Amino acid sequence: MGNPYQSMRVTVTRIEDVTPQIKRFTMALPEGGPMPGFSGGGHVIVQMEDGGRRYSNAYSLMNSPEDRSCYQIGVRREERSKGGSAFLHDKVRAGDTLTITTPNNLFGLREEARRHVLIAGGIGITPFMSQLHELRRRGADYELHYAFRSPEHGAFRDELAVVPDSGRFRFYADSLGQKLDLGALLGRLHDGAHVYVCGPQPLIEAVQDAAAAHGVPRERVHWEQFAAAPQGGGAFSVVLAKSGRTVEVASGETILKAIERENAASVDCLCREGVCGTCETRILEGEAQHCDQYLSDAEKAAQKTMMICVSRARGQRIVLDL
Ligand code: FES
Repeated sequence: MGNPYQSMRVTVTRIEDVTPQIKRFTMALPEGGPMPGFSGGGHVIVQMEDGGRRYSNAYSLMNSPEDRSCYQIGVRREERSKGGSAFLHDKVRAGDTLTITTPNNLFGLREEARRHVLIAGGIGITPFMSQLHELRRRGADYELHYAFRSPEHGAFRDELAVVPDSGRFRFYADSLGQKLDLGALLGRLHDGAHVYVCGPQPLIEAVQDAAAAHGVPRERVHWEQFAAAPQGGGAFSVVLAKSGRTVEVASGETILKAIERENAASVDCLCREGVCGTCETRILEGEAQHCDQYLSDAEKAAQKTMMICVSRARGQRIVLDL
C-alpha cells in the first residue's frame, strides 16, 4: 500500500477548445522550470474545490514526455459529470492556479512488445498522444486505430493527420459508417504485438472479447479507463473489523460512499476512480469483485486487498481491515 503521488501547484497557461465537448489545458509551474518527468500513457490527478465540494479526476498527459516545460491534458465535459469536468470547463481560466498530483503511469508501453497496436475511442485518444511521442522516439513499430462519433468529435484528429507518421493511423467516424473491425484487426495480430485500448467501457469489452476469441494472450492486452464505469451488482454487507460495525452497501453504491454515509471509518481517497491506490484496503474475509485500474491481475486474483472506491463484494458479505 502507499500513495505514489505528491501534490503540486500549477498555473494554467492556455485553454483551447478542441471539440464542442473537449478542451485542452496547458499547465506549467508558477515559478517556471522543469515539470516532474513522466512516460507515455502517464496521468496526473487534478484536485479541485468548488464552493466546499471537492473533486479529484485523473487525466492522461498528452504532451511529449521529452517536453518538461508543461503538462497538457484533454478534458471532456462529461454529461453526467461528478462535477470535476464541469468545473474545469466552466470555472477555470488561463492564469488560474490548480492543484494536481505528480504523474504516475498505469498504462505504460511494454518494453517486451515487438509491435504496439493502439485502439482509441473518443476521449480515450489522450494517453496515446504522449505514447505516440515515445514510440516515435524509440523508433518502435506501431499503429493507431481511432474511432469517434463524427468528424467534429474526433479530438486531435487534425493534428494526428499531419504528423510524419500519420500513415500509421486509421480513423473511424461512426456517422460516416466507418467501422473498426476488431475481429479482423486482432485476427491478424503480429506475433509479439501488444494491444492497448482506451475509451468507453463497451469498446474495452469488445477488444477484450475479440482478443480472447482470437487467442491473444491476456497479458498482451492492456486497457485504461478513467471515470470508473458505474458498477452493477446487488447489495451486500461490509464488516469493519476494527470497530466491529456492519455497513450495508446498496445496489449501485460504492463501499466508500456507504462508509462515508454512515461516517463509519476514516479512509484516505484521492481519485475515487480506482486509479490512485490510496483507498487500498485489506480483505480479511470474503472476496472482492475488482473494478479498479490499480491492482495487477495477479494482485486481483490474490484477493488480499481491494480498492473500496470502486470495487464490490463478490457475495453477500466481506470483512475489511477498517
Ligand atoms: S481513491 Fe483512488 S483508488 Fe480508490
